[in-house]
Amino acid sequence: MYDIRTIGVIGAGQMGRGIAQVAAQSGFETLVFDASTENLEHGIEFIRSQLERGVSKGKWDQAHMDSAIGHLKKAHNISDFKNCDLLIEAATENKKIKFEIFKQLDEVAKPNAILATNTSSISITEIAAATKRPSKVAGMHFMNPVPVMKLVEGIRGLETEEAVFDAVEAVAVKMGKTFVKANDVAGFAVNRILMPMINEAVYTLYEGVASVSDIDTAMKLGCNQPMGPLELADFIGLDTCLAIMEVLHDGLGDTKYRPCPLLKKYVLAGRYGRKSGKGFYDYSKA
Ligand code: CAA
Repeated sequence: MYDIRTIGVIGAGQMGRGIAQVAAQSGFETLVFDASTENLEHGIEFIRSQLERGVSKGKWDQAHMDSAIGHLKKAHNISDFKNCDLLIEAATENKKIKFEIFKQLDEVAKPNAILATNTSSISITEIAAATKRPSKVAGMHFMNPVPVMKLVEGIRGLETEEAVFDAVEAVAVKMGKTFVKANDVAGFAVNRILMPMINEAVYTLYEGVASVSDIDTAMKLGCNQPMGPLELADFIGLDTCLAIMEVLHDGLGDTKYRPCPLLKKYVLAGRYGRKSGKGFYDYSKA
């Protein structure tokens, strides 16, 4: 019923550029848009450098890179998405921004186009309600770094059509990802589990149980995690971690999801992690 060939990606930041790279490498015609021209240029340049790196490391050949670049185009306006079969929104994790984008996408996209969001925590049902096509809205939650991580978490909103969910799953599989299905409850499956662990690591630091490096070493060597929870929080962005904890706290109403005051303080101070140069670790000299 849905034949997805052309994908539009909204947002050329950390997640959007990764999704666009994987889409283009998987043979989809891929259009990328960002509200900031500078971000868009930077995102496309980043994808090119990742593809070049892959060639030099022997992960793929030059022909594969050229083909991926050939599938990738910049969109200068949201209306450029009018012929896309699937739109994947990966803008800032902010309700107001996402609702506004979905209203615009609903106006420009063709009637049968699927609108997906990469939100890590905002309700799919609520995003869908900002459009006149809630049955064609679904969650497609990619993990960072998108080209490396094997998972896409699919989220069904209240009105999501089964055929739409199947189409989104087929796209994820064509991108080489494994698709897990979650229902639309705060945090879905991944962040319902991951964020309380990260938040607890921040409490462990806050209460003086162990140092930053000992917390991370404990979880890396003791639990075989590739990154310790504080290093991972810096990698994801402390502002994003806090936003997700607030969604869990508000949405589930249980005090066990209370964001750690230290996490709040770091965000207030502008210590967002890697992207701002400082979080639990200092990246400014790296
Ligand atoms: N983009 C593309 N590729 C990247 C990359 C990036 N940003 N960062 C690393 N890679 C690739 C490298 O090129 C390398 O590839 P090869 O092995 O083919 O050469 C591979 O990943 C391993 O990289 P490194 O050797 O440099 O470093 P590493 O072994 O320490 O791995 C890592 C880096 C893959 C990020 C690893 O530390 C890891 O898996 N960390 C955990 C990541 C994680 O949990 N992500 C999920 C976060 S939660 C989320 O995203 C959802 C949410 O809603 C918050």
